[in-house]
Amino acid sequence: MAEKTFKDRIAFHQSLETLEVDFSNVTFSSVDEVDAFYDEVDQQLAKTGRRWYFLIIYLDCVIEPQVWERFAERGKNTNVKYSLGTVRVGASEETREEIRGRAKEDRFRSNIFASREEALFAIAERRKRQEVLVERQTDDYLRVEDVQLLFGGIRALDGVGFSVNRGEIFSIIGPNGAGKTSMLNVINGFYRPTRGQIVFDGRDRTSLKPRAVAGLRFARTFQNIALFKGMTTLDNIMTGRLLRRRSNFLWDAIYWGISKNEEMENRDYVEGIIDFLEIEAIRKTPVGRLPYGLQKRVELARALAMEPKVLLLDEPMAGMNLEEKQDMVRFILDANDQWGITMILIEHDMAVVMDISNFVVVLDHGQKIAEGVPDEVRVDPVVIRAYLGQN
Ligand SMILES: Nc1ncnc2c1ncn2[C@@H]1O[C@H](COP(=O)(O)OP(=O)(O)OP(=O)(O)O)[C@@H](O)[C@H]1O
Ligand SMILES: [Mg+2]
Repeated sequence: MAEKTFKDRIAFHQSLETLEVDFSNVTFSSVDEVDAFYDEVDQQLAKTGRRWYFLIIYLDCVIEPQVWERFAERGKNTNVKYSLGTVRVGASEETREEIRGRAKEDRFRSNIFASREEALFAIAERRKRQEVLVERQTDDYLRVEDVQLLFGGIRALDGVGFSVNRGEIFSIIGPNGAGKTSMLNVINGFYRPTRGQIVFDGRDRTSLKPRAVAGLRFARTFQNIALFKGMTTLDNIMTGRLLRRRSNFLWDAIYWGISKNEEMENRDYVEGIIDFLEIEAIRKTPVGRLPYGLQKRVELARALAMEPKVLLLDEPMAGMNLEEKQDMVRFILDANDQWGITMILIEHDMAVVMDISNFVVVLDHGQKIAEGVPDEVRVDPVVIRAYLGQN
């Protein structure tokens, strides 16, 4: 039987916007073979003058170690130029290992499928998502554009962009180390991105310091609770009230004193929050003595005391029992409803995320691998795979 040429192994499926490449039983053992393939495919792609989804069949394909580098380099180049997204089928254990080793740079891990059918389904889902996205009305209240954040050699965030609508509950999900907390830190000015922009209400505020961001009424709760443990619940929540002031609070206090009126107003407001979150009984208790779930609630109270327009919640329900979680969900929904606060939520409990989010973005290895309304994200094979890939 005559050997199939690379030309025979490349097929365009117009209706699916997909380029299928069949590498089954191919062995790449020289750089020339690699180049011969990529020259052919690049040329054909260039002729189409547009981008395609790539479906690559790796069944019994062998890429010998000496050509891995070249293969990866040319592959990346072709992807950048012509790809709408790539799915791979049947990579051998060895190829997978190699791919895993490179998964930090490329998004390989999350899109390897066992069968061609599964892969085609994934492509169909992606196309559908793209269509929905084009239709989704965004008001660009908070826009994150092409954000990159480097820590030495680690790409904590790599070209991440999304748009949050006013008043919505917007969730960021993804495996451990995906870059979720880093994203919140960029949004609230804690980290300055190495590239990209944060635009809020039409203004670029990428380089504002945390204090200035707080002045724009961004509030935050932390993955590891950040309260003053020796201070009472009430005093902790009061600090949120003081943080709200745009001017330098200390300076004001020293030179003018805080007016009695303002002090009273702040107290009233804080009492309202205490009432709202049902924590009257612990007003005078030092926070360090409270159980974990209640500390989380006090942290939410302090954030709400800032009268935030945007509230960033980093795993507000982590470590809680079912009942505490249900309470927290209720408070988040009520606060969203009552004050119209825009919320960006990081949460690992999928049931909660899918239940309360208006929109979900999925990060993996610092990159956005998916986004959509909960019903889309829930069934997205790319997302499922990213989670299954976790140990
Ligand atoms: N200050 C830092 N210095 C160096 N590396 C950091 C720093 N902060 C985060 N990283 C790295 O950036 C990557 C993303 O971390 P990040 O904390 O944003 O992930 P995450 O999605 O919030 O994870 P988790 O679900 O475990 O909270 C990780 O590889 C992490 O080790
Ligand atoms: Mg985190």
